[in-house]
Amino acid sequence: MTDAPRIPHDTLSLANGGRMPLLGFGTWQIKGDDAVRATSTALGAGYRHLDTALVYGNEAEVGRALAESGVPRDEVFVTTKCPPDRAGSGVDTIRESLDRLQLDHLDLWLIHWPGEGSANADLWSDFVEAREAGLVRDIGVSNFDGAMLDEVTKATGVTPAVNQIEWSPLLFDADVVADHRARGIVLEGYSSLRGGTLEHPTIVGIAERLGRTPAQVIIRWHLQHEFVVIPKSVHADRIRSNGDVAGFELTDDDLGALDALSG
Ligand SMILES: NC(=O)c1ccc[n+]([C@@H]2O[C@H](COP(=O)([O-])OP(=O)(O)OC[C@H]3O[C@@H](n4cnc5c(N)ncnc54)[C@H](OP(=O)(O)O)[C@@H]3O)[C@@H](O)[C@H]2O)c1
Repeated sequence: MTDAPRIPHDTLSLANGGRMPLLGFGTWQIKGDDAVRATSTALGAGYRHLDTALVYGNEAEVGRALAESGVPRDEVFVTTKCPPDRAGSGVDTIRESLDRLQLDHLDLWLIHWPGEGSANADLWSDFVEAREAGLVRDIGVSNFDGAMLDEVTKATGVTPAVNQIEWSPLLFDADVVADHRARGIVLEGYSSLRGGTLEHPTIVGIAERLGRTPAQVIIRWHLQHEFVVIPKSVHADRIRSNGDVAGFELTDDDLGALDALSG
């Protein structure tokens, strides 16, 4: 029998009081029964944070896996996302997502990507309304730059709690990190295992020295920097090993070498 994965349960505080686990399970491109199976595997392995989106077409499957898992609702952090063209009907959209997920509230709801014209500010007002109605604990955005963060904050007086952006050691940018921290916005990374990261010789070298996989090194780099990371896989062995990262640490030299890869 293999040992149970050692899943980290460190969290960050969000603007409206939520506690966001640094490690989550990503579900993009996982559909149908695979989505139920993969989400069940992640929950069984000990992940307590799920990331889905309306456009992934798997909210119902993620919700079914969560309902059938027996894990108490308040132990799991659930994020879904809203397309940017829902301004004016945002509250209806979140209610529909909640129905599919079999939930009465979300932990985090994100504008999935920036919209045109006044769409961001208009939809962000709907997000604030949904939060005030108790349909979601914290609200945030995805794929926003600094000007877009300014726009929605100025329009409503409410700063996004989280910005989910493409992120990995190869995309590390200390100015982006500093800007998010100065604004009090949690930086959540996505697609951290794409873009050649898994084959990068520096990452592979660190992984070989530590007797770990390149994916575990990349995930550990996020955790030690306090970036939220949401690796996705449909394979049970990868889901377990990606989460099995509480039992080792990167050295300061490792972190420095990984930070330098984007240079
Ligand atoms: N906000 C946005 O615009 C946005 C955009 C993209 C993604 N996301 C979110 O971020 C999550 C993660 O990003 P992502 O889906 O692009 O995937 P990712 O976590 O970067 O993984 C990329 C691919 O690597 C493979 N993989 C996973 N673990 C591995 C391992 N240990 N060894 C080798 N290969 C491995 C997976 O394929 P297999 O499934 O075949 O294992 C996966 O398709 C998404 O699922 C989604 O929740 C958000």
